[in-house]
Amino acid sequence: MKNALSLIEKLNQEKKLEMEEWIFLIENRREKIAETLFALARDIQKQHFGNKIYTRGLIEYTNYCKNNCYYCGIRRDNKSVERYRLTVEEILDCCRRGYALGFRTFVLQGGEDGYDTDERVEEIIRSVKQRYPDCAITLSLGERSYKSYLRLYQAGADRYLLRHETAQKEHYEILHPPELSEANRKQCLYNLKKIGYQTGTGFMVGSPGQTPQSLAEDLIFIQELNPHMVGIGPFVPHHETPFAKEKGGTVELTLYMLGLLRVMLPNVLLPATTALGTIDPRGREKGILAGANVVMPNLSPLGVRKKYELYDNKICTGEEAAECRQCLASRMKEIGYELVVDRGDYKEEN
Ligand code: 5AD
Ligand code: FES
Repeated sequence: MKNALSLIEKLNQEKKLEMEEWIFLIENRREKIAETLFALARDIQKQHFGNKIYTRGLIEYTNYCKNNCYYCGIRRDNKSVERYRLTVEEILDCCRRGYALGFRTFVLQGGEDGYDTDERVEEIIRSVKQRYPDCAITLSLGERSYKSYLRLYQAGADRYLLRHETAQKEHYEILHPPELSEANRKQCLYNLKKIGYQTGTGFMVGSPGQTPQSLAEDLIFIQELNPHMVGIGPFVPHHETPFAKEKGGTVELTLYMLGLLRVMLPNVLLPATTALGTIDPRGREKGILAGANVVMPNLSPLGVRKKYELYDNKICTGEEAAECRQCLASRMKEIGYELVVDRGDYKEEN
């Protein structure tokens, strides 16, 4: 087996590694190796994006969810969540404020809400697109049929985020009740790509049952899927879930995985997530310096922010969108990057 540094070099050259090599890189990470990885990841990030950081305005428009994922704070069985659903008017109001602040992508995220028929989501998409034709719409509504994904795409949605959560069947079953399957999740992702969405996948770092082997499988799945976006953040326990007492993921491993992803997929859109900012006050800055190039501040109305707590202590639930935009702009500036007003579409190799 080669040493870690030569494996990082090999990854940079070939853009893929064997299972055992990934496992070795994950198990044998040291501060020095991470430093080298991050420097390389930043070089690649700079080559493709300069010092530009893209923003996406996140609108959490429903917290109803029919699923019962063991890690998630808005799971069906959490009866202490006050459920809400924004009206089309309220969603448009979020977009209006977001547009004025410089957002050119709106991420419509929700639990798997039975109220979200194709007709309802189409209406939302059409209303937003009609008023903001220069903006991209990203959906994040969980698993739906091929036909439904196709309809929403035809209604004008540009992108779709659906984290695979873990590529390993046994691990998927630790995180989810039996009615959900890793196979269906992966199929949904292939369907989204086939339809033409800019497609995002991703996983939590440090979720219960995760191993170097399962992480290696995540990287291999991502390499095969070749998505346009990858969202990763630490697992953060939520007190009203079966995983309340589990340990959370670390900043250190999350950053390392970000670095590996940037080297493997040079032009991928890679957010420094809110979860990373939640477990470390400088988490998002560190994420950017490990290779990330996107931030996704919250545009949801202040009144509902606390009701969309997927995990404990989520940041920015008390700040106005304008404050977060400002805050992030100055955080990025401090580390030499710039928030831009741009849709931030995926670009093929350049
Ligand atoms: N900690 C961190 N991330 C979480 N998510 C859900 N629950 C948690 C948690 N407890 C992530 C999942 C999901 C995304 C919307 O949020 O990966 O796909
Ligand atoms: Fe929300 Fe800093 S990004 S307060």
